[in-house]
Amino acid sequence: MSVRQPRVAAHVATSRHLCAAYPLVSEAGLGQAGVLIGRDVLGGSFVYDPFALYQQGVVTNPNMVVLGQIGRGKSSFVKTYLWRQAVFGRRAWVIDPKGEYGPLAEAWGVAPVSLRPGGSVRLNPLDTGPGSGGGTESGVVGVAGQPVGDGAERRRVVLTASLAMACLGRDLTPRERAAIDCAVGEAAHRSAASGASPTLPQVVETLLDPGTDAAHALRTTREELLEDGRDVALELRRLVHGDLCGMFDGPTTPGLRLDAPLVVLDLSAVYHSPALGVLMVCAAAWLQSAVRSEDRHRIIVVVDEAWAILSNLGVARWLQTSWKLSRALGVANMAVLHRLSDLRSVGPSGSEQVNLAEGLLADSETRVVYAQSPSEVSRTSELLGLTETEAELVSQLRRGTALWKVGRRSFLVEHRLASSEHWLADTDQAMDGERS
Ligand SMILES: Nc1ncnc2c1ncn2[C@@H]1O[C@H](COP(=O)(O)OP(=O)(O)OP(=O)(O)O)[C@@H](O)[C@H]1O
Ligand SMILES: [Mg+2]
Repeated sequence: MSVRQPRVAAHVATSRHLCAAYPLVSEAGLGQAGVLIGRDVLGGSFVYDPFALYQQGVVTNPNMVVLGQIGRGKSSFVKTYLWRQAVFGRRAWVIDPKGEYGPLAEAWGVAPVSLRPGGSVRLNPLDTGPGSGGGTESGVVGVAGQPVGDGAERRRVVLTASLAMACLGRDLTPRERAAIDCAVGEAAHRSAASGASPTLPQVVETLLDPGTDAAHALRTTREELLEDGRDVALELRRLVHGDLCGMFDGPTTPGLRLDAPLVVLDLSAVYHSPALGVLMVCAAAWLQSAVRSEDRHRIIVVVDEAWAILSNLGVARWLQTSWKLSRALGVANMAVLHRLSDLRSVGPSGSEQVNLAEGLLADSETRVVYAQSPSEVSRTSELLGLTETEAELVSQLRRGTALWKVGRRSFLVEHRLASSEHWLADTDQAMDGERS
């Protein structure tokens, strides 16, 4: 006798309704606008574009943080992502501390800009974009009573202060800030006659030889103003005359192709320098000024090995400003870190450094988490608000697979390298060499 099985009628529902019924299993994906990243481990392909997601309201900023232990595939993901974005005409600017984006640049038909002390390329971090010269257009009055000009000049003051903090390794006193304000204003004023941007040597020179008018405006003497700015001048001098000279101490070398689809700043020559952070700020400042002059195209700016620069208060403040400006400039920033404790270890608990570094995370609504060591998991979960299941997963992820947190949504994504892309991603040559 045959037993009749009770039959359940098939039920058809849209993916939107299924999401409500099976929350973790049937995430509807991020749509099809963007580049293919790889395979959503729970099914389907995974496509991503920060600009499209911003327009759709899925994220409120286009920035991304990529985290992961050494050798998990962070840089490979970044390189192939940029390469795939190129198909859509997107452009990218990369700060490359290890000098590993050369093949990508070559494929794009451009040469990386290699910075080394005494090398042939100089970038002026006080540039405010082609044609901006040294103007002081808006007539805003600065701390010393002199016009500090438009946002461009304010940015120069902020950058110089950040550099000074980065070089001194401490916060600035009000007197030092005022001295910087005066020196940048005066250097800009002097160079405006020739239509050029001021340079760091000119700022250092002015700090060591302040004008009488600037001193009067601060109700002080020239001698006092000189003393106020002396420490700053002596530290900034390193970039001008010291061990770091020849990279950021003059007008930008003519002929650099800023209109290229990819601009790579190769800092590998100074990767092991304790001043890497300072140099990365100079490089990033120059990039940012160049991006501004680009008329707000959608540009992706990558700071690989960003952990190397966060511990510096000046650098962290400066970076935070760049992250906050992303929407206004049409820039999607990407920072690559090893672990979230990089953010906490930048200073004492509750310190401004830590707040700034963690703020960077808050200002990055896409977090791509590659494998973390078990000791990192609870901190990662706390800062990213991971569920228990997600927390368990992040210590077990294989190379190339990451947990993506996009706004409030989560995806487990296996980054797929096409066979034609392996040359782009391979950073194991040294290891392979040892084996052979
Ligand atoms: N999705 C992937 N599939 C296959 N191989 C991969 C994948 N991602 C990375 N690899 C390989 O793993 C190696 C290390 O990758 P990568 O340099 O991107 O790691 P990383 O996380 O940036 O390391 P580090 O922290 O040292 O910078 C590379 O040789 C790369 O070819
Ligand atoms: Mg890497």
